[in-house]
Order: sequence, then structure tokens, then C-alpha cells
Amino acid sequence: MTEALAPSTYFSLEVSAAERQRIFEPSWQLVALRQELAQHQDFVVADLAGRSILVQNFDGALRGFVNVCSHRHARLRQAECGNGLLRCPYHGWTYNGDGVPVGIPGNADYFGLDREGRQALALRPVAVACCGDLVFARLTADGPDLATVLGAYAEPLAHLSTTLGRPFQRAAVTWAANWKIGVESALEGYHLDMIHPHSFRPMTGTVRPSEFAGPHSFGPTDLADEARASMRRMATRLGLATTERFTGYDHFFLFPNMMVIASAGTFLSLQVYEPTGPEVTRLKFWMAAGPSSKPEQRQSVTGRAIERSLVEFNDRVLGEDQRISEEVQHGKHLAERPARLGQNEDRIAAFHEAWRAAMEGR
Ligand code: FES
Ligand SMILES: [Fe+2]
Repeated sequence: MTEALAPSTYFSLEVSAAERQRIFEPSWQLVALRQELAQHQDFVVADLAGRSILVQNFDGALRGFVNVCSHRHARLRQAECGNGLLRCPYHGWTYNGDGVPVGIPGNADYFGLDREGRQALALRPVAVACCGDLVFARLTADGPDLATVLGAYAEPLAHLSTTLGRPFQRAAVTWAANWKIGVESALEGYHLDMIHPHSFRPMTGTVRPSEFAGPHSFGPTDLADEARASMRRMATRLGLATTERFTGYDHFFLFPNMMVIASAGTFLSLQVYEPTGPEVTRLKFWMAAGPSSKPEQRQSVTGRAIERSLVEFNDRVLGEDQRISEEVQHGKHLAERPARLGQNEDRIAAFHEAWRAAMEGR
């Protein structure tokens, strides 16, 4: 097994800047579930390589732009998601689906911009692509398409997201830890006994061998019988669509910073660890389920209570991971040699290898 990453790679400013350029600028990043962008003028905001971007539905077409007005550089969107005309909050310039300012208050008097002049002020586009109902964006226009990047996982992810991709929670929290520590906390089950003894641990059973596809990996873990049965009962009660292809806790990691997790083929959980500084990470996460054949049950008090219990459970487990990850961030400043990884941390070793390959341009 190759050596783990040097402790300084978890706090160095230079490494962080190089990661932005070499890893995050050319990477597709998960920004939304398709349903969040289903209507005309639905939008989401994300952070790609430290740059705020927006993705919006314009009459059915998803378009992405760097989130800054061409006039005097106000951020166009402040909310993480919503619906509305793409209009700058400062002087009210409005933009169309090509990113061209089509409404400029007082244009004739103050700017005299004709069609060509407005065209020249178009927003900087970012690439947008979908895998099933997962929506991704990328800063750089050139590069391999999303399906090529996802490789062997494109098909199962499309299946999972179209079957289970109706979000009932979208949230974000800030961790005082490097993004790689967050990723690593998600890539092994070794810590479950210590960190999640009363939350996640009782739900799990046998850990199955990891699988690898390019820089990505898949970690299947059996669910305890009782946990699986309980989730299936919830699905039956609420009339939720499920998939028989996945029955455990089926965990996909998409390099560099994304997790897509199915539980009992019933619930879908997404996580993106966005670096906002060398020692700060914005964790965005979603919980989703399939469409319901019993909408009145789904909307009932019981349906809402089930949803709330899942949200609280997810928040609790992620909170437990946050606390230990922030401890590890302190530890990185004290450590004098790389981490020592065991066989049961093979997905972290593969992550480090993919990180090195990306940083070295291999
Ligand atoms: S800064 Fe956007 S309209 Fe002026
Ligand atoms: Fe954890």
C-alpha cells in the first residue's frame, strides 16, 4: 500500500490553491437533484473550486453561470436555492438563458448598449450535465463528459437517482476541517463502534469488500435485518418506490468529494464536501426518497414524522462525524508522519492515490 498523504496537505495554503486548480476546476461536481430544478426559473447555487456558480432552469434547459453580475460585480444569487427571474439585486440587470443582460434599467440613457454590446457582457458560462436525476456542473468548458468521468458508476447512479431522487431535505453545515478529512470520514466503517455506537452502528451488519472504478469507489455494507425491515416498512406505509438492486447501505464515492448512498434501496443520501478554505469545508447534503403511490400517506402527520426522524438521524450521524473530523484537523498540525492505513481503509488509500494522480496531472 502506498503511503498516506503528508499531514501538511490538510492545512497548507499552497496545497489548497493547487487543489483548486488541478482537482476542482476540471471536476464535475454534484449541485442538485433534478427535481430541485424542475420548474422554469428554479435555481441552485454551488461553490466550484472556491467560485460561486448558479444553475438555473430556463424554459426547461439547465444553464450554469459564474454567480456575478457583469455590471458592477454584485453576486447575482444569495440564496442556496429558489425560484425567480435572474435579476441582479443591485441595479436590476436581468439575464436570459444565454447569460446575456436583456433588461438594463435606463439602458438608452446611460449605456446605449445594442445587441452586440449586451452580448459582450454575457455571464461566464459553466458546463452543466446530468446523470439520471443528479445534476452536475463544471467550471472548465473542456474536458471529458460526465458519463466518461463516472465510468462504471454512471448506470447505477442514474438508476438510483431516477428511482429515489425526490429530495425531502437539503441542508449545509460548515466544518472546521479540511475537505479531505470529511471525505475520509465517509470512506471507512472502522470508526462506527467509537463514533456512532448508538446511532449508525446498530443499523449495520457485515462490511463487504470495496470496489473501485477509476478514482471512484463503492463500499457496500449489509444492513442489520431489523434496520432493513424497518426502512422497508416505512416505504410500504408511505407508498414509496424502491429498488431491488440495492438492499444494504450502498455507498458510492465519486472523486474528488461526493458521496451517493442508498439505504435498503429505499432512501438516498447525497453529500458534497466543498472546500471553502484550507481548514474549512462546507458540507452540503440531501435526503431523498422515491415518488409515492400514496400521496395522502406521504403528506400525513405520520409521513412527516417519518421524514423528520430520518432527517434528525442523518443530522446526528453527520454531527458525530463533524466533531471527530475537527479533532483530526487539530491533529494534522501535530502529526510528524503520514497516517497509517489498515486494510479496512483501502478506499482512503485509493482516494490518496487518485489525489496524487490528479495533482500530478497523470
Ligand atoms: S451590479 Fe448588477 S446591476 Fe449593477
Ligand atoms: Fe461516520
